[in-house]
Amino acid sequence: MSELTQIGSINERPRIPTRDEVELNFSDKAITELEALKTHYPELKACILPTLWIAQREYGGFLSGEAIAEVAYRLQRSYAEVEGVATFYSMYNTAHKPGKHKIELCTCLSCHLCGTYRLRDFLKEKLGIGHGETTADGLFTVEEVECLDACDRAPVIQVGDTYHGPVDEGYLSKLIDDLRANPESTVVKMADEMVKVHIRASER
Ligand code: FES
Repeated sequence: MSELTQIGSINERPRIPTRDEVELNFSDKAITELEALKTHYPELKACILPTLWIAQREYGGFLSGEAIAEVAYRLQRSYAEVEGVATFYSMYNTAHKPGKHKIELCTCLSCHLCGTYRLRDFLKEKLGIGHGETTADGLFTVEEVECLDACDRAPVIQVGDTYHGPVDEGYLSKLIDDLRANPESTVVKMADEMVKVHIRASER
C-alpha cells in the first residue's frame, strides 16, 4: 500500500499522486476505454465519474485506496478530489469490499409501507446478515438505500443493474438461489455496464 493511501497521510491527499506512489492495475481494455473517453471531454476532471466505474470494475467491485490513487494519477487530479467524488455517490463502493452480489433494499416511504423491513428481516434470517454486512462466503452484501425511483413497483430491490419489484419473500428466496448459481459477479457486471453507458453517451 502506498503512503498516500494510508490513514494518517491526510496532508498528502490534496496533491496529484506521483508515479512511484501508485500501482497501475488497469487492464489494456480499461486503458483503451479511458483513452476513448478522454477525447470526448473538455478536461480530465470531467472524466472522474466514468473512470471510477472503470476502476470499480477493474478492482473487483471495490474502490480501494489504491484504486482511487490510480484514477487520480491517470486523470492528473488530486487524491482528495477523486476520493471526494467517489465517496459522495453511494453507487461507488468505497466503505468496504462488497460481496459478489449486492442486494440493495429501498427503505423510502412507498417501499417501507409495502414491506421493505419484512424483507430485511427475511434476509437476516436467510443469509445471517444485515445492513452493510457481507456473508462469510463473500457471496452477498445487504444494503439499505434511499428511493430507487421505481416507487410504483414497491417494495423494490436492486441487484447489480437490475431492479426487482414488487418483491416478496418467495421471490427473494428464488432470486438468492439464482444468484448463488450465477458465476458472474453482478457488482462487477454493473460497473462494466456503467462504463458502456458512459462511452455510448460520450459518443453522441
Ligand atoms: S420508495 Fe422505494 S423506489 Fe421509491
